[in-house]
Amino acid sequence: MKNHTPHAATAAAGKTRDAFSSSFGVLAATLGSAVGLGNIWKFPYVTGANGGAGFLVIYLLATLLVGLPVMISEIMLGRKAKSDAVTTLRTLAPAGQPWWLIGAFGVVAAFLIMAFYTEVAAWVFAYVFKALRGDILSSSPAVTSAAFKGLISDPVQSLLWQWGVLLLIGGILLFGVAKGIEAVTKKLMPLLFVLLLVIGARSLTLPGAAQGLSFLFTPDWSKISGEVVLVAMGLAFFKLSIGMGTMITYGSYFRDDQNIPATTLRVMSADLFVSMLAGIAIFPAVFSFGFQPGAGPALLFITIPAVFASMPFGHVFMVLFFVLAAVAATGAMLSLLEVPVSVMVGRFGISRARATLLNLLLLGLIGSSCALSNSVLADVKLFGMTFFDLFDYLTSNVLLPLGGIFICLFVAWVWGKQKMMEALSNHGVLDNGKIVKGLHGLLKLVTPLLILLVMFKGLGLI
Ligand code: PFF
Repeated sequence: MKNHTPHAATAAAGKTRDAFSSSFGVLAATLGSAVGLGNIWKFPYVTGANGGAGFLVIYLLATLLVGLPVMISEIMLGRKAKSDAVTTLRTLAPAGQPWWLIGAFGVVAAFLIMAFYTEVAAWVFAYVFKALRGDILSSSPAVTSAAFKGLISDPVQSLLWQWGVLLLIGGILLFGVAKGIEAVTKKLMPLLFVLLLVIGARSLTLPGAAQGLSFLFTPDWSKISGEVVLVAMGLAFFKLSIGMGTMITYGSYFRDDQNIPATTLRVMSADLFVSMLAGIAIFPAVFSFGFQPGAGPALLFITIPAVFASMPFGHVFMVLFFVLAAVAATGAMLSLLEVPVSVMVGRFGISRARATLLNLLLLGLIGSSCALSNSVLADVKLFGMTFFDLFDYLTSNVLLPLGGIFICLFVAWVWGKQKMMEALSNHGVLDNGKIVKGLHGLLKLVTPLLILLVMFKGLGLI
């Protein structure tokens, strides 16, 4: 291992590296990254489209056997090197071995995800205003569908909302890690839980709510195929923000006394809890008013407004719901953009402000391909998909799982058990020996093979 300290220039300048300042801050920021449109938009529609509870069981297994080990590994590596995703792997790998490519592909994945994610976030932010003004307050899906199509097929509106979202996220990132990311997520996460509980309680007390719960909790195994298992695993990667260096980056801001396995378990459970609550807020209400659960990506924007418009005080709950989605999206986007920003600062030594600005410009360009996927570029297709669908599919089902495989292999085979033991026990302070043993066993063979198998089967290669 090379023994130069990352950020030697920063250290020489006498500045300490920006990092999360409290234990609650670590939790809020990391959970802020995990919780996002994945919980409020993707999880409900993917679960709805793939048969409900059976899919949920597979998703749970993927989270435990794949998500948890990869997430712990990433945070561990980041905290050890205290650097961006590329430099971390450069520093920790033996000289000359190209493991840093994991970080480089992570930057590509961050761009591709941001490109479509900021567009969905754009619709959510637009919907907060539409909900406030009562524009989408109709119990007829035909009306809410026309409103949604009107928004997404308008290139100007799509682009402006997306750029607005980008500016908001860039603006927060300019304040740095502790004063930007941590300060904002510490306020947003508690708000998110309160909103979810309020909306969940409303949905559960509707007549006929039990049907929605049984959809979510009674498995129908006939819907499970190789492709569905891949989708569940891809969702686990996307949900936990792993396989692309986000958790390496956030890990580098972790405090040295933080218990990494315990924090990761907490984040994973809280993320799952939010997904379940989102499901509980949505499906009972969907069934109660006789709507279909398998509406696909449009569930959030077409079915949900109609559902809310059907219930007493629906206007208030609709506004709260879209504020909730906007809050969730914000924390996730901060972590996505932080990946390339920190790489630019770490590798090229440019200031944070410049790096943020440059990334915003790049994302404005790349992101517009997704913003226009439902209008001007609707007919431009690669592998039969629009840019929006392609970036979504490629990242969750190929790039993130591949990143996950290489993280496992690096940690188990190159870094080794001894270093894992030191890092995860905080140099002997914590008694995490058993966890490290189990984790090492999983990372060595089980997890990477499982990911590979699911990928090949899901992509139809075996
Ligand atoms: N985990 C986020 C969500 O579920 O919405 C999405 C995400 C954030 C994916 C950050 C990847 C990432 F690096």
